[in-house]
Amino acid sequence: MLAQTPPPRLGAAVARFVLASLVAVAVIVVGGFVLLRDAAEQEAERDTRERVVAIASLVETAGLQDGLLRGDPAALRRLDDLVLGKVLAGSIVRVKVWTRDGRILYSDEPALIGRRYTLGEDERELFETGGAEAELSDLGKPENRLERPEGKLLEAHTTIRTPNGTQVLFEIYQRFGSVSASAERLLGTMAPPLIGGVVVLLLLQVPLAWRMARRLQRGHQEREVLLASAVESSSRERGRIAADLHDGVVQDLAGVAFGLAPLAASARARGADEEAGVLDGATATLRQGVRDLRTLLVEIHPPNLSSAGLEVALSDLLSPLARAGVQTGLDLHGGVPVARQELVYRVAREAVRNAAAHADPATVTIAVRAGEGRVRLVVRDDGRGFAAGERERRAQEGHVGLSLLEGLVGRAGGRLAVTSVPGEGTTVELEVPQG
Ligand SMILES: Nc1ncnc2c1ncn2[C@@H]1O[C@H](COP(=O)(O)OP(=O)(O)OP(=O)(O)O)[C@@H](O)[C@H]1O
Ligand SMILES: [Mg+2]
Repeated sequence: MLAQTPPPRLGAAVARFVLASLVAVAVIVVGGFVLLRDAAEQEAERDTRERVVAIASLVETAGLQDGLLRGDPAALRRLDDLVLGKVLAGSIVRVKVWTRDGRILYSDEPALIGRRYTLGEDERELFETGGAEAELSDLGKPENRLERPEGKLLEAHTTIRTPNGTQVLFEIYQRFGSVSASAERLLGTMAPPLIGGVVVLLLLQVPLAWRMARRLQRGHQEREVLLASAVESSSRERGRIAADLHDGVVQDLAGVAFGLAPLAASARARGADEEAGVLDGATATLRQGVRDLRTLLVEIHPPNLSSAGLEVALSDLLSPLARAGVQTGLDLHGGVPVARQELVYRVAREAVRNAAAHADPATVTIAVRAGEGRVRLVVRDDGRGFAAGERERRAQEGHVGLSLLEGLVGRAGGRLAVTSVPGEGTTVELEVPQG
């Protein structure tokens, strides 16, 4: 399908610009929030790691006894007092002490004490490497089922030793709510100046965008005017050349032919047959020359286009085909502006000529529709058609009728499409703004 390029519309162009800017602002805000949240999460993990190390060393020195390893109630009580009194405050909601093989020695939740779960890879590694780990808790794990009601949690572990040197894993759980709250707080402070700045930028850019779109639009209009005047002046120039040829050379040659004919007759009467033959030949050549020149005149400046109109000119194109027994059809709807008539005529002429020269068709039709700001021409034949590469090959041999048309149509701001199916025929479609 063919499409024309409409002139750029000012309001639509600026609206598109504003919309794109708003989308960019939205991307910045959402992206900023995600980045801030990630940063806050990492910060919280670091913070939690530091806390677990500090609390673990407190527990190690003040609350951890060897009796805990055997489940001694006094040792449990002592640790419980320390945890309830000093550790479980603010955002820390749970404490667990694990043996290396996954048994819970102590928790502030008594139901967990003595239970056994499989420790994760990371936790087991801590027994070898030391240090601390922090991560978001997977509340789906069975060992975390009692923490589920607390919502999203960060867990952190490190290893400590009982007085006899046995390593145990110390674990705390911290509420995550404080993390997202701090990201929101950060965003809350940064977003208003950021968004405000972008909006001010946008407000400053809208008049600029408006001016630029207007300049583009004016450029487009100027181009149209230039094109129209170029077509007009070239057609005027061709008219002038045609008139000069017609009134000068054509008349002179016709006059000479007219003068030579009686000379041949009198030579023959005199019995100078050879001389008469030469004169007859010269007259015939001159007449042929005049005929050729007249044909050329019609090509350069089709007279019936301006005098009789496009419809007559188009049906003149078809009539030689009709005389040769081809079925022809012409269908013209709407008034084609004078400025476009010549282009329509030239495209139709090349298409019809091509059909006659290459296609051997049974039918050739021309359809022209003008309206809704554009002119459309379709020339169709049901001849032999041609394959994709054929045109290119012929163009290299100097057969450039269609290529020349493409340039002409492009300069007028239109589109030309030639579609052909071997064995089925060829369609030439022109679409051009009414101008
Ligand atoms: N209607 C058609 N049916 C079959 N073949 C066609 C048709 N129109 C064009 N062609 C093929 O495409 C080629 C290129 O066409 P184009 O009009 O560019 O050149 P041409 O007609 O061969 O020469 P020129 O137009 O320069 O006198 C033709 O040589 C022909 O092979
Ligand atoms: Mg051709």
